[in-house]
Amino acid sequence: MTRLEIALGDITKLAVDAIVNAANESLLGGGGVDGAIHRAAGPELLAACRKLGGCPTGDAKATPGFNLPAKWVIHTVGPVWQGGGQGEEALLASAYRRSLEEAAKLGAASIAFPAISTGVYRFPIARAAHIAVATVRDVCATHPTIARVVFCCFGAETTAVYRKALAQSLRPSLSD
Ligand code: AR6
Repeated sequence: MTRLEIALGDITKLAVDAIVNAANESLLGGGGVDGAIHRAAGPELLAACRKLGGCPTGDAKATPGFNLPAKWVIHTVGPVWQGGGQGEEALLASAYRRSLEEAAKLGAASIAFPAISTGVYRFPIARAAHIAVATVRDVCATHPTIARVVFCCFGAETTAVYRKALAQSLRPSLSD
């Protein structure tokens, strides 16, 4: 069974097989976690991303991790929150699912996710954390080679939200 963990801090420091980047459709870099990953991986990452030809929202594409401790970066694109009526929840679930599928294809046994779409893209954090946990549990049930999934939280507030989402996913009948 896949182990789900929460880590507090910078995803670029994590020694896992793959880290996920919350990118945009160009895959050519940006701010937030995307900027941090490009800075830590070095310029070879941008050169590798240029060859991918972008990525639609909800999809994912992989590159090596270059100077990162992680072997691979899975670049995914979460939705911009527009109030919830534009398929944002399904697109966010798809970003998690496709990232895990790419990681499984590479043979990654451990993968770390940032809180995709919850920064610049403004997806409400509690709803995003619930989708993240539920989708990871669902996909990992059919991808047993992924032994460990880390939710990397950049701040104490995000960590608290993920703890609650994880607890509720184990005891859904007690959700509040
Ligand atoms: N490690 C872990 N999490 C981080 C880090 C880090 N080093 N830095 C930020 N976060 P965001 P999005 C958290 O805005 O909402 C970029 O410009 C952050 O606190 O990075 O999906 C892309 O190019 C938040 O919880 O991604 C796109 O244009 C989470 O990562 C756009 O932003 C996601 O915040 C994507 O927006």
